[in-house]
Amino acid sequence: MAQDTLTIIDNRTQQTYTLPIENGAIRAMDLRQIKTGPEDFGLMTYDPAFMNTASCRSSITFINGERGILRYRGYPIEALAAQCTFLEVAYLLLFGELPTAAELTRWASEIAHHTVLHTAIEKFMEGFRYNAHPMGMLVSTVAALSSVYPEANDIHDPENRLHQIVRLIAKAPSIAAIAYRHSKGFPCVYPDNQLSYTENFMSMLWKMAEPKYVANPVLARALDTLFILHADHEQNCSANAMRSVGSAHTDPYLTTAAAAAALAGPLHGGANEAVLQMLDEIGAKQNVPAYVKKVKAGHGKLMGFGHRVYKNYDPRAKIIKQTAEQVFEVTGRNAKLEIALELERIALEDDYFIKRKLYPNVVFYSGIIYQAMGFTPKMFTVLFAIPRVAGWLAQWQEMLTDTEQKIARPRQIWTGHEVREFVPLNSRTTVAGTRGT
Ligand code: CMC
Repeated sequence: MAQDTLTIIDNRTQQTYTLPIENGAIRAMDLRQIKTGPEDFGLMTYDPAFMNTASCRSSITFINGERGILRYRGYPIEALAAQCTFLEVAYLLLFGELPTAAELTRWASEIAHHTVLHTAIEKFMEGFRYNAHPMGMLVSTVAALSSVYPEANDIHDPENRLHQIVRLIAKAPSIAAIAYRHSKGFPCVYPDNQLSYTENFMSMLWKMAEPKYVANPVLARALDTLFILHADHEQNCSANAMRSVGSAHTDPYLTTAAAAAALAGPLHGGANEAVLQMLDEIGAKQNVPAYVKKVKAGHGKLMGFGHRVYKNYDPRAKIIKQTAEQVFEVTGRNAKLEIALELERIALEDDYFIKRKLYPNVVFYSGIIYQAMGFTPKMFTVLFAIPRVAGWLAQWQEMLTDTEQKIARPRQIWTGHEVREFVPLNSRTTVAGTRGT
């Protein structure tokens, strides 16, 4: 009769062990009883990059990578992207249910009332060099908020946590906008609480001398849709950083800064900037085959292609492609689109990419839209980070309230020396292969 157990025979000892299987997983700690003798530490699993290790139970974001499914709290991303605002989705991620009209009004008003930055933070941002990368500015400034709100370290008080969550979601666009205007040499624009979350962000970015900024509704909706698509994505590199750093009970500002630092990498959120650099490098449609050949020969990667989880298609990329058409009707077609479409066409027909199940991911087309809207490539990863703050904080709360979680602390497999006799300075000789040779 079928049983939810796994039987293991240790061929070193001929001992048999039966381990329970729950939710398609065995507990790694159950392996520790498998020993060759009392001195043996017990069996571990070795899983660099967490290729097959679940680090938590979660009910926030569901992905089925084989079937191209993405859901937040059970709702398909397609429905949320078509029918919600970003703030509705942020509420859903954080509280588990879509807000009623009254709950949404209250939530939007709470966020709007925390968009202003403390003058100490504004001054802090003035100190960056004119050409500072906005992601570096965002990471450092989010961390600096910790110095303004020291009470945030009381992470066990749910009300206090919620207060900091509201502040972080509210202030992320304000920080991003100042980072952008700093690079242009423009003074900062104060938030306009009558505008929606996304329109207010656009106002803080682009308002000049006009008394009130009026966002193009198509572009504002497109940005809101992009925010929804980027709001959370299960246990990705930055969510894992958020949970790992947060597990040390670090305050939410420093923890969010750590997650944003992970996002900045070109294999993760930083790939959206790298896609534009790649399209610039390719330069023209006719150069695509030569570029693909170079990638296949092992020189670099196709940025915006491939995903650890999606092995069919990234549902976010599909929605982004549709959004791009709406944006281009307002802004005109981005010339890079031709190159991107050709790259996608050639790659999707090529055995190298088919065999490895490499498809365009969320960032492949997002940069082309952002550029058409007037953003510089350096801002792209910041645009990924703003909505992801909501996802990180939902993951952080879930981790803190999960009684099974403890400080994150992986094991290692030791590959170094056995104990060595210490050599005094004047008796040492250079060892070949070290820095000295
Ligand atoms: N271009 C060319 N080859 C690739 C690419 C790519 N973009 N991605 C993976 N491969 C190859 C890789 O070299 C390997 O080949 P082989 O089996 O011959 O060694 C094979 O495909 C499997 O790749 P992997 O590196 O083991 O896959 P991974 O799951 O560790 O990496 C990834 C996932 C997203 C980091 C990787 O696909 C990549 O670097 N893509 C480009 C960067 C990118 O677009 N990142 C954004 C991801 S979506 C936004 C987000 O949520 O972070």
